[in-house]
Amino acid sequence: MSLIAEDLIPWQVKYGRHFLPWQNRRDPYAVWLSEIMLQQTQVKTVIPYYQRFIEIFPDVENLAQAPVDDVLALWSGLGYYSRARNLHQAAREIIQNYKGIFPQDSEKIQQLPGIGRSTAAAITVFAYGNRAAILDGNVKRVFARYFGIDRYPGEPATLKKLWALAEVSLPENNDSDKIRIYTQALMDLGSMICVRHKPACSQCPLISRCVAYQAGNVAQLPVSKPK
Ligand code: ADE
Repeated sequence: MSLIAEDLIPWQVKYGRHFLPWQNRRDPYAVWLSEIMLQQTQVKTVIPYYQRFIEIFPDVENLAQAPVDDVLALWSGLGYYSRARNLHQAAREIIQNYKGIFPQDSEKIQQLPGIGRSTAAAITVFAYGNRAAILDGNVKRVFARYFGIDRYPGEPATLKKLWALAEVSLPENNDSDKIRIYTQALMDLGSMICVRHKPACSQCPLISRCVAYQAGNVAQLPVSKPK
C-alpha cells in the first residue's frame, strides 16, 4: 500500500467521521445527493438540507418527476443553485438513458450534469467500492503540502501532477472497505486537520512524511493564484 494510505487508514478508523447521515449508505442516489450538496457547502450546514431533501425525494424517480421549482425551494439557503438544476436534470437523464438505474462506470457518471471527475470518483468509491482517486479543493491542499508541490494548483501542469499523485496514493488492491476508508480519510483530514489557516499539524498522521511540514512551509502551500 502507498505510505500515505498506510498512515491514513488507521487514523480514519480511530479519529475520522463515521456517523454522517449519508455514510454507510450504499445507495448511489443518496451518495450522489450528499456529494453535490458538499461540493461548496460545509458538512454541518448540509446535514439538515440533506435530510429534508431525501425525505421528500427518496429516489431518482421521485426527483425526476418533480417540478424544478420544488427542487429549488428545497435548496433555498444552500446557495449555488445551478447544483440543484443540474441534479434535477441529471435525474431526468438517469431515467431516460439508464432506465432509472444510476450508472456504475466513472466515465458515464461524469457525463451527467454537475458531476466532475472528483465527484464521480467519490460516488463510485462510496456507492460501489470501486478504486478511484478524488481531488477536491481540500484534497489538493493535502497533497500539495504532503508532496511539497510549490506551484499554483490551478495551473494545468500542476493539476495534472496532483491527479497523478492522487492516483499513485490509492490503496493498491481492490479492497472496497479500504478504498472507502481511505477516501473518507482524505476528506476528514482536509476539513479537520490540514485546514487552510492554522492546520493542526501536531495531530496529523502524515506529519513525519509531510514535505511541507518538514520544510517549514505549510503556511505557504498550496501556492495562491499568481497575480
Ligand atoms: N466532503 C465531500 N464529500 C464528503 C463526504 N462524503 N463526507 C464528508 N465531507 C465531504
